[in-house]
Amino acid sequence: MKTLATAEWRGRLLVRSSANVYNQSLLSSLIDANGKQQALQWAKAVRKNMARPPQGSDRDQMRAVAAGLADVAIVNTYYLGLLANSDNQKDRAVAAQLKVFFPNQAARGTHVNVSGAGVVAGSDQVEAAQRFLEYLATDEAQSAFTGATYEYPVVSGIEWSPLLQQWGTFKADPISLALLGELNADAIRCFNQAGWE
Ligand SMILES: [Fe+2]
Repeated sequence: MKTLATAEWRGRLLVRSSANVYNQSLLSSLIDANGKQQALQWAKAVRKNMARPPQGSDRDQMRAVAAGLADVAIVNTYYLGLLANSDNQKDRAVAAQLKVFFPNQAARGTHVNVSGAGVVAGSDQVEAAQRFLEYLATDEAQSAFTGATYEYPVVSGIEWSPLLQQWGTFKADPISLALLGELNADAIRCFNQAGWE
């Protein structure tokens, strides 16, 4: 199986720091799917394949790929949407050079991060906050949100923006978000052991 952990990607890969929750959730999903030992091996191998020590944001990884520093970057797709629709012509040119690949399509599906919302414990505006959460789940808000952020709507049946449609459909890993939270500390330990800064 071709994975980013194989030696053919040596020096060709970019991904941000393990201090970021995106990577922590990704590794949590690997711990759940394959166990801690295999997740550690994966993190070690990916660390070895990096074109440089982790630095910068998801957008910076893509800018570096477009500049020829590496061939592939692990990023959230919505940042590509933001680059493609940036006011900055250079960032639009970066986006034009990149394509999206959704990994794991023959297995559990691509790892997905979420934008979450909740009510603060002890809030004195619980009812208003709940009404706002309910509003966020309406077709109107879901549609506006995906149109502005290039994230995928969580409510089914909402039309994707043309850019998301262009990237194509994909199978998403259905892992529970609560489980990602439970495994977060294990993921951080695993990154530290792997030497992924
Ligand atoms: Fe983000």
